[in-house]
Amino acid sequence: MLDVEQLSKRFGSRTAVDAISFGIGRGETVGLLGPNGAGKTTTIAMISGISKPDGGEVRLDGVSVVRDADALKRRVGLVPQDLALYEELSAWANLQLFGGLYGLGARQLRQRAEAALALVGLADRSGERVGSFSGGMKRRLNIAGALLHDPDLLLLDEPTVGVDPQSRNAIFDNLEELKRRGKTLLYTTHYMEEAERLCDRVLILDHGRILADDTVAGFKRQYLNLEAAFMRLTGRALRDGAGA
Ligand SMILES: Nc1ncnc2c1ncn2[C@@H]1O[C@H](COP(=O)(O)OP(=O)(O)O)[C@@H](O)[C@H]1O
Ligand SMILES: [Mg+2]
Repeated sequence: MLDVEQLSKRFGSRTAVDAISFGIGRGETVGLLGPNGAGKTTTIAMISGISKPDGGEVRLDGVSVVRDADALKRRVGLVPQDLALYEELSAWANLQLFGGLYGLGARQLRQRAEAALALVGLADRSGERVGSFSGGMKRRLNIAGALLHDPDLLLLDEPTVGVDPQSRNAIFDNLEELKRRGKTLLYTTHYMEEAERLCDRVLILDHGRILADDTVAGFKRQYLNLEAAFMRLTGRALRDGAGA
C-alpha cells in the first residue's frame, strides 16, 4: 500500500533522513522505533505531504505523494507529535473545525465526529473545553480528529508521549481497535514495549537510517528482544523516556 524509496531530507548540512526505503502492506501495523533525533517526525512529515523530500519517493498504491498531495490527504490521517487543538473550544467544536478542513458535509461530519469520539472514549466529554482535558484526553481527541475523513492509513507520531499510564492503555486499546477494523498504521515511538505489543513489524531508525526491518518475532529469534536488537545495532541503549 505504501512504498517509501530512498527518501531523504537535509536541514542545512545535517541529514535528518538518509535515503530510507521500506514498504507497508494494507492492514499492517508498523512501528518506527528510534531515539530522540533519529528522524521519525521528519519521515512522517514527508509521508504525510507536509514536508517536501530532498530526494526519493513516497507512493500510495503506486501514486506519488510528492506529486499528488490532494489524493493523499483524503486517504491519510495524521496524528502529529505536537498537539493541534484549540484549548478554548470544546472537543466537539475542535472536531467540527478539523472536519471542515476535509470538506465533509454537516451531516456526515456529525456522524463521523460522534463515531470518532465514541471510539476514543470521549463521547460523554464532547461539550467540555479542551483546556480542561488531561494530556491523555487531548491525545485521544487528536486521534479522533485524524479519523473524521475515514482514512485507510494512519500516521501517528509518538501518540503516547507524556500521558499517564491509564491514558496510555486507553490509547493502545484505540489503536488495537483501529487495527482490528483493517486500518493500516505507521506509528513512531521510542518505547520498545509498545512496539512489541502493537506492531506486526518494526523498523529500527537511528541517525536517519533504517538499521533493521523485521517482525517482532524475527527480532526475538535473532536478538532475544527489541531492546537487545537496538543495543546490538546501534551500540547503545534506548531507554524509555530517553526522547520526547
Ligand atoms: N525544521 C528543522 N530544522 C533543522 N533541523 C531539524 C528540523 N527538524 C528536524 N531537524 C533535525 O533533524 C533530525 C531528526 O529530527 P526528527 O525527525 O524530529 O527526529 P525524531 O522525531 O526521531 O526525534 C534532528 O537532528 C533534528 O534536530
Ligand atoms: Mg519526533
